[in-house]
Amino acid sequence: MEDINYPSFFSLNYQMELIEKAKEIIETNWRGNFTVPTNKLYPFQWNWDSGFVSMGVANYDIEKTIAEIKSMFSGQWENGMLPHILFHSEREKTYFPNFDFWQSTVNQGAPAKPKSSGITQPPVYGFVLEDIFNKHQSNQSLIDFVKAIFPKLVAYHRFLYTFRDPNQEGLFYIFHPWESGRDNSPLWDESLNRIKIDKNTLTKYKRIDTTLADASERPTQDQYDRYVYLLELGKRYAYDGVEIAEQSPFLIQDCMMNAILIKSNESLINIGRALQLDVSEIVEWQEKSKANFSDKFWNEELGVFASYDMRSGEQLKHKEIGGFIPLFAGIATDNQAKRIADYLQSVSDKGYFLCPSFDIDSPLFDSKRYWRGPVWPHMNWMIREGLQKYGYHNLAETVKSDSLYLVKKLGFYEYFESQKSRVPNISKGYGGANFSWTASTIISFLSEPS
Ligand code: SER
Repeated sequence: MEDINYPSFFSLNYQMELIEKAKEIIETNWRGNFTVPTNKLYPFQWNWDSGFVSMGVANYDIEKTIAEIKSMFSGQWENGMLPHILFHSEREKTYFPNFDFWQSTVNQGAPAKPKSSGITQPPVYGFVLEDIFNKHQSNQSLIDFVKAIFPKLVAYHRFLYTFRDPNQEGLFYIFHPWESGRDNSPLWDESLNRIKIDKNTLTKYKRIDTTLADASERPTQDQYDRYVYLLELGKRYAYDGVEIAEQSPFLIQDCMMNAILIKSNESLINIGRALQLDVSEIVEWQEKSKANFSDKFWNEELGVFASYDMRSGEQLKHKEIGGFIPLFAGIATDNQAKRIADYLQSVSDKGYFLCPSFDIDSPLFDSKRYWRGPVWPHMNWMIREGLQKYGYHNLAETVKSDSLYLVKKLGFYEYFESQKSRVPNISKGYGGANFSWTASTIISFLSEPS
């Protein structure tokens, strides 16, 4: 393995080149009023992808940023739900499950256009909006936009607290791994494997993803069967939270999703106070969520936060990337932050790029396959922010430099090999190429004041 001398590796010229390339990618993926994650493999608007893209684009084109977010909220349901995919075009045929499979309008509050999926994704828009707002406080059209979008964001959070929190703990549940964004993390294996699939009754379907990306980098067929099973279950109950909470075999309070909600609540409170908007409802949610977060999710033995399976009544005891995100939300104690930082330092010392998406010492770790071990640039952005917040500046710098190095060496891919010793033998990253959130994260990393 070549020794990586990061400072000389990233000359100013090279950084400029990287930013230009990133902008080109985002431009290519722009579809008139939103950005697709990548051509073909993900040809629609994805919820958290667009959030991360908005933050990067806000560094150079505020009009586009506003269009992107407006476009996302054009798909919001009457109950406040913000779907994970908006099918703005019904002509794109390179994705499964497409709009005709989801049938979002089984829920009466789903807009007829754009059609959408029936599940959500990490609630990133609060912190996204604050990041943009802080950078453009003197831009009146941005302020007007923030005021207009603010109640929609509050409605989205209200949906999570009302429809997804049956025990009123201030901690919402997901019923599909796709909602977590970490689709096939080994974290979900046990909960998913409890679902017994009867091939005769499961709706017939045909995957497209494995014709567009290497099958060894994507979720397995068994996992897809379970994704389709849970999608069908959601559809059967009109994607309505109450019945799903009673019926779904997969019901998880995800520590990352809830940390992101807390972070976004905080951002909405900050924005609301700055603009003299009413934040009392958000403050109430926030108090409850923060009061219950650590008791529910901290695992002292592992030294990380761990998600909670509401069906088994137990934590999912794994070290995985979602367990570091509470640092980003500022809800870890100093001791908890230290345990996480020490762990990440040890992973780096053992020869891994930060941050592998799953426990490197687990037999379930796979440095190549989707969420089972590779490095994800947008996750690194959140983790770096979190480490900075708790004073781990050197480690935070490693997270950033590792991300830049991987993109330089392997291209603007969706995710990356995490094992350093393997990188000399491969020529590209994994999953989709020319990927929007990789491009926007690079812009975010390189646009911040040093
Ligand atoms: N990430 C999922 C997919 O691979 C769903 O959003 O299609």
